[in-house]
Amino acid sequence: MSNALFRTKSVEQSVRDTQEPEHALKKSLSALDLTVFGVGVIIGTGIFVLTGQVAKDVAGPATAIAFAVAGVVCGLAALCYAEFASTVPVAGSAYTFSYASLGELPAWIIGWDLVLEFALGTAVVAVGWSGYVRSLLDNAGWHLPDALAGPDVADGFGFDILAFALVLLLTAVLVLGMKLSARVTSIIVAIKVTVVLVVIIAGAFFIKADNYKPFIPEEQSQQAGNDLQAPLIQLVFGYAPTNFGVMGIFTAASVVFFAFIGFDIVATAAEETRNPQRDMPRGILGSLFICTALYVAVSIVVTGMQHYSKLSVDAPLADAFKATGHSWYAGFISFGAAVGLTTVCMILLLGQTRVFFAMSRDGLLPRFFSRVHPRYKTPHRPTILLGVVIATLAGFTSLSELAELVNIGTLFAFVVVAISVVILRRTRPELHRAFRTPLVPWVPILSVLASLWLMLNLPAETWVRFAGWMAVGFVVYFLYGRSHSRMEGTADLAADRQHEVTGTNDTQ
Ligand code: ALA
Repeated sequence: MSNALFRTKSVEQSVRDTQEPEHALKKSLSALDLTVFGVGVIIGTGIFVLTGQVAKDVAGPATAIAFAVAGVVCGLAALCYAEFASTVPVAGSAYTFSYASLGELPAWIIGWDLVLEFALGTAVVAVGWSGYVRSLLDNAGWHLPDALAGPDVADGFGFDILAFALVLLLTAVLVLGMKLSARVTSIIVAIKVTVVLVVIIAGAFFIKADNYKPFIPEEQSQQAGNDLQAPLIQLVFGYAPTNFGVMGIFTAASVVFFAFIGFDIVATAAEETRNPQRDMPRGILGSLFICTALYVAVSIVVTGMQHYSKLSVDAPLADAFKATGHSWYAGFISFGAAVGLTTVCMILLLGQTRVFFAMSRDGLLPRFFSRVHPRYKTPHRPTILLGVVIATLAGFTSLSELAELVNIGTLFAFVVVAISVVILRRTRPELHRAFRTPLVPWVPILSVLASLWLMLNLPAETWVRFAGWMAVGFVVYFLYGRSHSRMEGTADLAADRQHEVTGTNDTQ
């Protein structure tokens, strides 16, 4: 039985499955589409909302360094993701990669983890979007009743009607087809990047050097509170929780990490890419590089415009312009943020449905969900199911704790992917790899350590919630997935195939 848990699905089998007509997605994306796709999902709530919060409470102007740290952690993971995405070009991202290298149970664990990351990520961004839209509506003199503004705003019952409606609308767009959503995405990404560039270029003229003093504020001890809210590393090593200082930079990095989530989703579109071997690494690394540069620049500018202790936590970029007396820019930025967050939400939702689709195609979730729509060629069933669940979640939940849960889930996926690169190099050295991670095993090892380090900087209660979600996953796997897997009874066959097939996995 333990063999069954670690049965692997060969890379060739993964590619063959994508060619069954009923279960095949359309191949239409280029490297540029992927980069736009990446930038579209990466720039979002992280830079538009978290920058102010983190600068104010945890790192001051050194938030720019925190972004750079988080960018390096993601860069290491991206080098591993790119090798896998170019070797196993099928839907499902880290899930598919680990099925091909570590085995079915680890693959299930990672798939289940990605469902958490993307579903909660979509909900978090939808709620952030709703905040910006409400602020724009307020400017226009329309005030939504508190009960419809969500649990963060209302006393007592609160339902975030805007976040709910956004997720349902995006679900409909995704059901209608990838090409439509890619086109809409490009326009919105252009608006979002313009807004970010305006912040950097216009804001640079309003910087006051005094605001950078001190660049790394002195350590301050945190108020004693519930132990579970302290970063795990502080509980483990028993030192007093502090904000600011050099350690504050790492705490900040574990939070602003959210701003980078999304580059891994580019990998989930491998199956819909025309030439995944060449374009996938370009798309992933390109979008990550662009975003890191923009984030560092934005945080340097914003903390230079306004002293970090005075930054707003709701709309820090727009409010920094208001504080320097430039309200016109503030309105423009709020508009761009509201538009930009729409794509982030949509692509997270897309990544989510593709993972679910891949798990269902493998029989680990009911196969009913992996029949693509006869006309639109999209996995409409998981898209609709998950869209409705996430919309409801976005309507009823507040975002801060969810964001930390998203971060831990994503970092965990990074760890698994990095380990998988090393394992696959040993078990399938002959596979064609269009992109090879440099300095294996050192880069993957560094990636694992860096991701674990950020995970340890997250609150202990986040770890507890994450463990709970994974425990539910185990129950589902042992009650359903294990016995319904398409690999059931084929473990030996799969092993034979691995030795049999030595050709490349080119799907063109
Ligand atoms: N990286 C995305 C954001 O910042 C998820 O909103």
